[in-house]
Amino acid sequence: MNIPQSVKWENGTIQLLDQRKLPHVTEYLTLETVSSVFDAIKSLAVRGAPAIGITAAFGVALSALKTPAENVQDLKEQVLIDSGYLSQSRPTAVNLFWALNRINEVVTRSTTIESLREDVVAEALKIQAEDEAVGRLIGEHALQLFQDGDRVMTICNAGSIATAKYGTALAPFFLAKEHGINLSVFACETRPVFQGARLTTWELIQAGIDVTLITDSMAAHTMKTKKISAVITGADRIAANGDSANKIGTFGLAVLAKSFGIPFYIAAPLSTFDLATPNGEAIPIEERDPSEITHVNGLNIAPDGIRVFNPAFDVAPAHLITGIVTEKGVIKPNEQAIAALFQ
Ligand code: MRU
Repeated sequence: MNIPQSVKWENGTIQLLDQRKLPHVTEYLTLETVSSVFDAIKSLAVRGAPAIGITAAFGVALSALKTPAENVQDLKEQVLIDSGYLSQSRPTAVNLFWALNRINEVVTRSTTIESLREDVVAEALKIQAEDEAVGRLIGEHALQLFQDGDRVMTICNAGSIATAKYGTALAPFFLAKEHGINLSVFACETRPVFQGARLTTWELIQAGIDVTLITDSMAAHTMKTKKISAVITGADRIAANGDSANKIGTFGLAVLAKSFGIPFYIAAPLSTFDLATPNGEAIPIEERDPSEITHVNGLNIAPDGIRVFNPAFDVAPAHLITGIVTEKGVIKPNEQAIAALFQ
Protein backbone atom coordinates (compact mmCIF):
# COMPACT_ATOMS: atom_id res chain seq x y z
CA MET A 1 0.00 0.00 0.00
CA ASN A 2 1.35 3.42 -0.91
CA ILE A 3 1.32 5.68 2.16
CA PRO A 4 3.04 9.03 1.52
CA GLN A 5 5.41 10.54 4.09
CA SER A 6 5.52 14.29 4.67
CA VAL A 7 8.61 14.78 6.86
CA LYS A 8 11.99 13.08 6.43
CA TRP A 9 15.28 13.72 8.18
CA GLU A 10 18.04 13.17 5.61
CA ASN A 11 21.74 14.02 5.88
CA GLY A 12 21.15 16.72 8.46
CA THR A 13 18.34 18.39 6.50
CA ILE A 14 14.55 18.24 6.59
CA GLN A 15 12.93 16.94 3.42
CA LEU A 16 9.42 18.30 3.59
CA LEU A 17 6.55 17.42 1.28
CA ASP A 18 5.16 20.79 0.16
CA GLN A 19 1.47 20.25 0.96
CA ARG A 20 0.54 23.62 -0.57
CA LYS A 21 1.20 22.18 -4.02
CA LEU A 22 -0.70 18.91 -3.65
CA PRO A 23 -2.39 17.10 -5.28
CA HIS A 24 -0.95 18.04 -8.66
CA VAL A 25 2.69 18.64 -7.77
CA THR A 26 4.61 16.32 -5.44
CA GLU A 27 7.67 18.26 -4.38
CA TYR A 28 9.93 17.99 -1.34
CA LEU A 29 11.48 21.17 0.05
CA THR A 30 14.95 20.96 1.57
CA LEU A 31 14.94 22.90 4.85
CA GLU A 32 18.28 23.82 6.38
CA THR A 33 17.46 26.81 8.57
CA VAL A 34 15.19 27.46 11.52
CA SER A 35 13.50 30.37 9.75
CA SER A 36 12.63 28.18 6.75
CA VAL A 37 11.03 25.69 9.16
CA PHE A 38 9.04 28.51 10.80
CA ASP A 39 7.83 29.71 7.38
CA ALA A 40 6.94 26.17 6.26
CA ILE A 41 4.75 25.62 9.32
CA LYS A 42 3.11 29.05 9.18
CA SER A 43 2.38 28.87 5.46
CA LEU A 44 0.98 25.30 5.69
CA ALA A 45 3.70 23.66 3.62
CA VAL A 46 3.46 21.21 6.51
CA ARG A 47 0.27 21.03 8.55
CA GLY A 48 -1.61 18.63 10.79
CA ALA A 49 -0.92 18.60 14.51
CA PRO A 50 1.58 15.70 14.83
CA ALA A 51 3.45 16.62 11.60
CA ILE A 52 3.84 20.20 12.85
CA GLY A 53 5.35 18.88 16.10
CA ILE A 54 7.71 16.51 14.28
CA THR A 55 8.86 19.24 11.86
CA ALA A 56 9.45 21.72 14.68
CA ALA A 57 11.48 19.09 16.58
CA PHE A 58 13.69 18.62 13.50
CA GLY A 59 13.83 22.43 13.22
CA VAL A 60 15.46 22.55 16.66
CA ALA A 61 17.80 19.78 15.51
CA LEU A 62 18.85 22.07 12.64
CA SER A 63 19.52 24.82 15.15
CA ALA A 64 21.62 22.48 17.30
CA LEU A 65 23.67 21.32 14.32
CA LYS A 66 24.10 24.64 12.54
CA THR A 67 24.67 27.07 15.40
CA PRO A 68 28.40 27.70 15.75
CA ALA A 69 29.36 27.28 19.41
CA GLU A 70 32.45 27.46 21.55
CA ASN A 71 30.81 26.13 24.68
CA VAL A 72 27.70 24.15 25.53
CA GLN A 73 26.10 26.97 27.53
CA ASP A 74 26.07 29.34 24.55
CA LEU A 75 24.73 26.60 22.31
CA LYS A 76 21.93 25.78 24.75
CA GLU A 77 20.94 29.42 24.93
CA GLN A 78 20.67 29.85 21.16
CA VAL A 79 18.91 26.52 20.61
CA LEU A 80 16.30 27.37 23.24
CA ILE A 81 15.78 30.79 21.62
CA ASP A 82 15.21 29.05 18.27
CA SER A 83 12.82 26.61 19.90
CA GLY A 84 10.87 29.54 21.39
CA TYR A 85 10.74 31.14 17.96
CA LEU A 86 9.36 27.95 16.36
CA SER A 87 6.70 27.76 19.08
CA GLN A 88 5.24 31.01 17.69
CA SER A 89 4.58 29.52 14.26
CA ARG A 90 1.02 28.33 14.95
CA PRO A 91 -1.09 28.61 18.11
CA THR A 92 -3.74 25.89 18.22
CA ALA A 93 -2.15 22.46 17.73
CA VAL A 94 -0.72 21.57 21.13
CA ASN A 95 1.54 18.90 19.57
CA LEU A 96 3.84 21.75 18.53
CA PHE A 97 4.45 22.79 22.14
CA TRP A 98 4.49 19.18 23.34
CA ALA A 99 7.26 18.24 20.87
CA LEU A 100 9.28 21.40 21.56
CA ASN A 101 9.04 20.80 25.32
CA ARG A 102 10.42 17.30 24.86
CA ILE A 103 13.32 18.65 22.82
CA ASN A 104 13.91 21.52 25.26
CA GLU A 105 14.33 19.04 28.11
CA VAL A 106 17.01 17.22 26.13
CA VAL A 107 18.77 20.52 25.38
CA THR A 108 18.64 21.61 29.01
CA ARG A 109 20.20 18.45 30.40
CA SER A 110 22.99 18.17 27.79
CA THR A 111 26.51 18.62 29.12
CA THR A 112 28.59 18.85 25.94
CA ILE A 113 28.18 20.36 22.47
CA GLU A 114 28.46 16.92 20.86
CA SER A 115 25.94 15.21 23.15
CA LEU A 116 23.48 18.09 22.73
CA ARG A 117 23.62 17.79 18.96
CA GLU A 118 23.39 14.01 18.95
CA ASP A 119 20.64 13.82 21.57
CA VAL A 120 18.42 16.48 19.98
CA VAL A 121 18.50 14.69 16.62
CA ALA A 122 17.85 11.36 18.36
CA GLU A 123 14.88 12.80 20.30
CA ALA A 124 13.32 14.28 17.15
CA LEU A 125 13.66 10.91 15.37
CA LYS A 126 12.13 9.23 18.44
CA ILE A 127 9.14 11.59 18.41
CA GLN A 128 8.60 10.70 14.76
CA ALA A 129 8.98 6.93 15.29
CA GLU A 130 6.64 7.00 18.29
CA ASP A 131 4.01 8.86 16.29
CA GLU A 132 4.10 6.19 13.61
CA ALA A 133 3.51 3.44 16.19
CA VAL A 134 0.80 5.48 17.90
CA GLY A 135 -1.01 6.08 14.60
CA ARG A 136 -1.17 2.36 13.96
CA LEU A 137 -2.60 1.70 17.41
CA ILE A 138 -5.20 4.44 16.95
CA GLY A 139 -6.13 2.82 13.64
CA GLU A 140 -6.55 -0.59 15.27
CA HIS A 141 -8.78 0.78 18.02
CA ALA A 142 -10.83 2.89 15.62
CA LEU A 143 -11.33 -0.04 13.27
CA GLN A 144 -13.32 -1.82 16.02
CA LEU A 145 -15.90 0.98 15.76
CA PHE A 146 -16.76 0.26 12.13
CA GLN A 147 -18.41 -2.59 10.23
CA ASP A 148 -17.59 -3.87 6.77
CA GLY A 149 -19.45 -1.68 4.27
CA ASP A 150 -19.68 1.41 6.51
CA ARG A 151 -19.63 4.90 5.01
CA VAL A 152 -17.72 7.28 7.23
CA MET A 153 -17.45 11.05 6.97
CA THR A 154 -14.35 13.07 7.80
CA ILE A 155 -13.08 16.62 7.45
CA CYS A 156 -9.67 18.16 6.83
CA ASN A 157 -6.72 15.80 6.58
CA ALA A 158 -5.86 13.74 9.63
CA GLY A 159 -3.98 11.18 7.57
CA SER A 160 -0.48 10.07 6.77
CA ILE A 161 0.85 13.46 5.71
CA ALA A 162 -0.52 15.11 8.86
CA THR A 163 1.49 12.68 11.01
CA ALA A 164 4.49 10.35 10.84
CA LYS A 165 2.71 7.62 8.88
CA TYR A 166 -0.80 6.29 9.47
CA GLY A 167 -2.59 9.43 10.56
CA THR A 168 -5.26 9.53 13.24
CA ALA A 169 -8.76 9.81 11.77
CA LEU A 170 -7.62 8.16 8.53
CA ALA A 171 -5.59 5.39 10.22
CA PRO A 172 -8.55 2.95 10.45
CA PHE A 173 -9.08 3.19 6.69
CA PHE A 174 -5.47 2.21 5.95
CA LEU A 175 -5.76 -0.72 8.36
CA ALA A 176 -9.16 -1.74 6.97
CA LYS A 177 -7.54 -1.90 3.55
CA GLU A 178 -4.78 -4.12 4.96
CA HIS A 179 -7.38 -6.45 6.52
CA GLY A 180 -9.64 -6.57 3.45
CA ILE A 181 -12.47 -4.70 5.21
CA ASN A 182 -14.45 -2.35 2.95
CA LEU A 183 -14.96 1.14 4.31
CA SER A 184 -15.95 4.15 2.23
CA VAL A 185 -14.86 7.64 3.13
CA PHE A 186 -16.86 10.81 2.47
CA ALA A 187 -14.34 13.66 2.65
CA CYS A 188 -15.53 17.23 3.26
CA GLU A 189 -13.55 19.60 1.03
CA THR A 190 -12.61 21.71 4.09
CA ARG A 191 -12.80 25.38 3.22
CA PRO A 192 -10.88 27.63 3.13
CA VAL A 193 -7.69 25.86 2.02
CA PHE A 194 -9.19 22.54 0.97
CA GLN A 195 -7.16 20.04 2.99
CA GLY A 196 -9.98 17.54 2.43
CA ALA A 197 -10.29 18.05 -1.33
CA ARG A 198 -6.56 18.28 -2.00
CA LEU A 199 -4.94 16.04 0.60
CA THR A 200 -7.35 13.47 2.05
CA THR A 201 -8.61 12.40 -1.37
CA TRP A 202 -5.03 12.32 -2.72
CA GLU A 203 -3.66 10.05 -0.05
CA LEU A 204 -6.70 7.75 0.10
CA ILE A 205 -6.74 7.28 -3.69
CA GLN A 206 -3.06 6.31 -3.61
CA ALA A 207 -3.79 3.69 -0.98
CA GLY A 208 -6.71 2.34 -3.02
CA ILE A 209 -9.33 3.40 -0.46
CA ASP A 210 -12.84 4.28 -1.64
CA VAL A 211 -13.34 8.04 -1.23
CA THR A 212 -16.00 10.53 -2.32
CA LEU A 213 -15.47 14.27 -2.16
CA ILE A 214 -18.25 16.62 -0.98
CA THR A 215 -18.32 20.31 -0.14
CA ASP A 216 -18.63 21.17 3.54
CA SER A 217 -22.18 22.44 3.02
CA MET A 218 -23.27 19.04 1.66
CA ALA A 219 -22.61 17.26 4.96
CA ALA A 220 -26.21 17.20 6.26
CA HIS A 221 -27.72 16.09 2.96
CA THR A 222 -25.01 13.46 2.53
CA MET A 223 -25.48 12.07 6.05
CA LYS A 224 -29.17 11.66 5.26
CA THR A 225 -29.09 10.39 1.70
CA LYS A 226 -25.90 8.32 1.70
CA LYS A 227 -26.54 6.60 5.03
CA ILE A 228 -23.38 7.79 6.71
CA SER A 229 -22.71 5.47 9.67
CA ALA A 230 -20.21 7.59 11.60
CA VAL A 231 -18.06 10.71 11.55
CA ILE A 232 -14.40 10.60 12.55
CA THR A 233 -12.03 13.57 12.67
CA GLY A 234 -8.64 14.42 14.10
CA ALA A 235 -7.93 17.06 16.73
CA ASP A 236 -5.45 19.84 17.27
CA ARG A 237 -5.98 20.15 21.01
CA ILE A 238 -8.18 18.28 23.44
CA ALA A 239 -8.93 20.08 26.69
CA ALA A 240 -9.01 18.35 30.08
CA ASN A 241 -12.82 18.00 29.88
CA GLY A 242 -12.81 16.47 26.38
CA ASP A 243 -13.75 19.57 24.37
CA SER A 244 -11.80 19.12 21.13
CA ALA A 245 -10.46 21.75 18.74
CA ASN A 246 -10.09 20.69 15.14
CA LYS A 247 -10.29 22.22 11.67
CA ILE A 248 -13.12 24.69 11.16
CA GLY A 249 -16.29 22.78 10.30
CA THR A 250 -15.74 19.99 12.79
CA PHE A 251 -18.15 21.52 15.33
CA GLY A 252 -20.85 21.65 12.66
CA LEU A 253 -20.33 17.98 11.81
CA ALA A 254 -20.64 17.09 15.50
CA VAL A 255 -23.97 18.97 15.74
CA LEU A 256 -25.24 17.27 12.58
CA ALA A 257 -24.13 13.83 13.75
CA LYS A 258 -26.04 14.33 17.00
CA SER A 259 -29.12 15.38 15.09
CA PHE A 260 -28.96 12.26 12.86
CA GLY A 261 -28.09 9.93 15.76
CA ILE A 262 -24.75 9.06 14.12
CA PRO A 263 -21.68 8.48 16.35
CA PHE A 264 -19.10 11.26 16.20
CA TYR A 265 -15.52 10.22 17.03
CA ILE A 266 -12.32 12.16 17.54
CA ALA A 267 -9.07 10.26 16.87
CA ALA A 268 -5.95 11.71 18.46
CA PRO A 269 -2.72 10.70 20.19
CA LEU A 270 -1.98 11.53 23.83
CA SER A 271 0.31 14.29 22.54
CA THR A 272 -2.84 16.19 21.44
CA PHE A 273 -4.31 16.33 24.96
CA ASP A 274 -3.67 19.46 26.98
CA LEU A 275 -4.56 18.90 30.62
CA ALA A 276 -3.51 22.47 31.42
CA THR A 277 -6.42 23.73 29.31
CA PRO A 278 -9.59 23.09 31.32
CA ASN A 279 -12.12 23.35 28.49
CA GLY A 280 -12.65 24.45 24.90
CA GLU A 281 -13.18 28.10 25.84
CA ALA A 282 -9.50 28.28 26.80
CA ILE A 283 -8.15 26.83 23.54
CA PRO A 284 -6.55 29.55 21.38
CA ILE A 285 -8.19 29.59 17.96
CA GLU A 286 -5.92 30.67 15.13
CA GLU A 287 -7.28 33.33 12.79
CA ARG A 288 -5.60 33.31 9.43
CA ASP A 289 -5.11 35.68 6.53
CA PRO A 290 -8.34 36.93 4.86
CA SER A 291 -6.88 36.04 1.46
CA GLU A 292 -7.47 32.35 2.26
CA ILE A 293 -11.19 33.13 1.92
CA THR A 294 -11.22 35.91 -0.65
CA HIS A 295 -8.88 34.11 -3.04
CA VAL A 296 -8.96 30.64 -4.58
CA ASN A 297 -5.71 29.64 -6.29
CA GLY A 298 -4.73 33.30 -6.46
CA LEU A 299 -8.04 34.35 -8.04
CA ASN A 300 -10.00 37.01 -6.14
CA ILE A 301 -13.59 35.77 -5.74
CA ALA A 302 -14.88 38.44 -3.31
CA PRO A 303 -15.33 42.21 -3.46
CA ASP A 304 -12.11 44.13 -2.77
CA GLY A 305 -11.87 45.20 0.86
CA ILE A 306 -14.61 42.86 2.12
CA ARG A 307 -14.42 42.27 5.90
CA VAL A 308 -13.43 38.65 6.57
CA PHE A 309 -13.57 36.36 9.60
CA ASN A 310 -11.22 33.41 9.10
CA PRO A 311 -10.93 31.17 12.16
CA ALA A 312 -8.95 28.05 11.23
CA PHE A 313 -10.40 25.87 13.99
CA ASP A 314 -13.54 25.34 16.04
CA VAL A 315 -14.32 23.33 19.14
CA ALA A 316 -16.56 20.28 19.27
CA PRO A 317 -17.89 20.25 22.84
CA ALA A 318 -17.40 17.02 24.79
CA HIS A 319 -21.15 16.35 25.03
CA LEU A 320 -21.33 15.95 21.23
CA ILE A 321 -18.41 13.48 21.08
CA THR A 322 -19.28 9.78 21.27
CA GLY A 323 -15.72 8.67 21.93
CA ILE A 324 -12.08 9.72 21.63
CA VAL A 325 -9.85 7.13 20.00
CA THR A 326 -6.31 7.17 21.39
CA GLU A 327 -3.37 4.78 21.28
CA LYS A 328 -4.61 3.47 24.65
CA GLY A 329 -8.11 2.69 23.38
CA VAL A 330 -11.44 4.47 23.00
CA ILE A 331 -12.48 6.66 25.92
CA LYS A 332 -15.52 8.71 26.83
CA PRO A 333 -14.80 12.45 26.59
CA ASN A 334 -14.80 13.35 30.27
CA GLU A 335 -12.30 14.57 32.84
CA GLN A 336 -11.92 11.27 34.70
CA ALA A 337 -11.35 9.16 31.59
CA ILE A 338 -8.88 11.68 30.19
CA ALA A 339 -6.94 12.00 33.46
CA ALA A 340 -6.74 8.18 33.63
CA LEU A 341 -4.91 8.14 30.28
CA PHE A 342 -1.96 9.89 31.89
CA GLN A 343 -1.72 7.79 35.08
O1 MRU B 1 -4.74 23.87 9.63
P1 MRU B 1 -4.31 22.41 9.60
O2 MRU B 1 -4.39 21.81 8.24
O3 MRU B 1 -2.98 22.20 10.29
O4 MRU B 1 -5.40 21.69 10.49
C1 MRU B 1 -5.24 20.31 10.70
C2 MRU B 1 -6.36 19.67 11.40
O5 MRU B 1 -7.28 20.30 11.87
C3 MRU B 1 -6.24 18.18 11.59
O6 MRU B 1 -7.50 17.57 11.56
C4 MRU B 1 -5.60 17.91 12.96
O7 MRU B 1 -4.41 18.64 13.08
C5 MRU B 1 -5.33 16.49 13.18
S1 MRU B 1 -4.03 15.88 12.14
C6 MRU B 1 -3.77 14.26 12.59
